[in-house]
Amino acid sequence: MQKEVKVVFEPSGRAVYALPGTVILEAAARAGLILQTPCGGAGKCGKCLVQVRHGECPASETDIATLGAVRVTEGFRLACHSHIHGPVTIEIPDRSLFQSQQQILTADSGETVDIRPRVRKICLRLTPPSQHDTVSDTERVLAALPPCSMTIDALRALPGALRIAGFVITCTLVEHELVAVEPGDTTTECYGIAVDIGSTTLVATLVNLNTGADIAVAARVNPQTSFGDDVISRIQKCRTEKDGLARLQGAVIEGVNHLIDELERKTHVNRNHIYEMVLAGNTTMQQILAGIDPSALGELPFIPAFRGALETQASDLRLHLPRQSKVFLFPQIGSFVGGDTVSGIIATRLDRTSGPSLLVDIGTNGEIVLSGKGRMLATSVAAGPAFEGARIINGMRAAPGAIEKVLLDGDVQLNIIGNAKPAGICGTGLIDAAAELLRKGLLDSTGRLLAADEVPASVPDALRRRLVEKDGEINFLLVDAGSSATHQPLFLYQRDIRELQLANAAIRAGINILLRIGGFQPEELEAVLLAGAFGNFIRRNNARRIGMLPPIPCHRIRFVGNTASFGAKRALLSVEEKEYADRVARSVEHVDLSLDPEFQMEFSTAMLLPEDEPDHCPE
Ligand code: FES
Repeated sequence: MQKEVKVVFEPSGRAVYALPGTVILEAAARAGLILQTPCGGAGKCGKCLVQVRHGECPASETDIATLGAVRVTEGFRLACHSHIHGPVTIEIPDRSLFQSQQQILTADSGETVDIRPRVRKICLRLTPPSQHDTVSDTERVLAALPPCSMTIDALRALPGALRIAGFVITCTLVEHELVAVEPGDTTTECYGIAVDIGSTTLVATLVNLNTGADIAVAARVNPQTSFGDDVISRIQKCRTEKDGLARLQGAVIEGVNHLIDELERKTHVNRNHIYEMVLAGNTTMQQILAGIDPSALGELPFIPAFRGALETQASDLRLHLPRQSKVFLFPQIGSFVGGDTVSGIIATRLDRTSGPSLLVDIGTNGEIVLSGKGRMLATSVAAGPAFEGARIINGMRAAPGAIEKVLLDGDVQLNIIGNAKPAGICGTGLIDAAAELLRKGLLDSTGRLLAADEVPASVPDALRRRLVEKDGEINFLLVDAGSSATHQPLFLYQRDIRELQLANAAIRAGINILLRIGGFQPEELEAVLLAGAFGNFIRRNNARRIGMLPPIPCHRIRFVGNTASFGAKRALLSVEEKEYADRVARSVEHVDLSLDPEFQMEFSTAMLLPEDEPDHCPE
């Protein structure tokens, strides 16, 4: 078995272990660094530029053709075309990152996104009162500010704050309301938090509202997962249990509060200087977080409680922030297409792409948006949690010990997250395994694992021996007991393949129906943007091999990272982006697959795995 090698990325210092031959782009994604790929990895745009500092990473012909011999000798490489051969240290310039500081200020389309948050801090240096100047403290301050009202909390703090620092104070305005007053000049201390509320994972980014810079990111499992791993089971909880909604809301609020605590611990930013939180999640997550009963989302005709953005304040949600801190929940599109999708559209400017384009966010719920011919169509499919490792017998999340990559080359080659002993398989490993088993003829198009005596004669013995029969079904041995972290053999079971087929078919059927309604053939798609933490790690050839994605050239399939977080950050930093989100939510047409007469047919067809391999293209 090939040994994984250490790959260190500078300046972040993040390190991962990758199999020799892994393309830099893929290793960087595993380290959480999503690079720009406007040409989809065709080696033409040069935007994925990195520089090899030490170690083995020979230049490809495309590197030389695109970058020139001089830059190549200086260590520059195209991350989409250069492969790691040994331990290596690679520098990633900020401009090559998809969600870099520059990118938050400049949209993909090249337009500039002004930093104009709704929160402003203004330092006032006032003349103290005297016998000849006896106006009240409030009048003195309001006269020096743009027209605004004052909250009672700000008024209570005002007299003391003025006199502590010789009438030098900092006023915090949220649009036209003065919400806080502090002694001295604290204008540099102005923060907000953007949160992606996923069904499975919560991700919070602390952002400097003056500069737009990310200060820190914290993530944790959504505590609601203990109530069920998909939104349907959580809606059901709210419908059937008297305190179901309160418990589910309490769980997600507790999760967000833990993230706030963690961000404060990591950065020493005082939470009193966090003035706004913007959250984006699917419709069910957003409603539960706001304490709004989602029961109507669980019965025909699946009606959400609100569509426009929901604005409230931290104290209403028992968030561990100053009580006047503002909370903005994203506008939503329909029953199961929520704020995270709107956030994804504004992050990618999907509505402004030149040709037909798809945004696909693969999670427990898969959201798909098609943009083309001046329309946007969106739908949601219940992909189930297979890609998160759930319902897979040896499945696990993409955490240390997870098999994240599977190659069948003579025998099994595995990439394990964190260079640990394998403990289970995560979503990308599952897709790889299925694609490779299909290629080698160990799996047929109905999704049946073949017995050792049924596979083609060309299959090496080492692979053939891994097909093990148990209880009338064939399973595939990935790792033997002696090599696994659990001291138990790790199998890919026949049942796991069925789970994968269900998730796969749901996504592909959703894509096909949107294309049909939009009047497009799959090959007309100019871009497929893969979003979400999971989407970043998918090997495109393998996703095409199992039929999850249409067989379009790989360079049209691009990774766009966690667009829910990215869009939330944009809305946090700009009032215009909030308004843009609102316009997007109102203009997207919601397609309810449960009402589409062709969904069942599409789904059944997509359950069959493709017989043939689409043309292979460079990853
Ligand atoms: S050259 Fe365009 S993505 Fe690498």
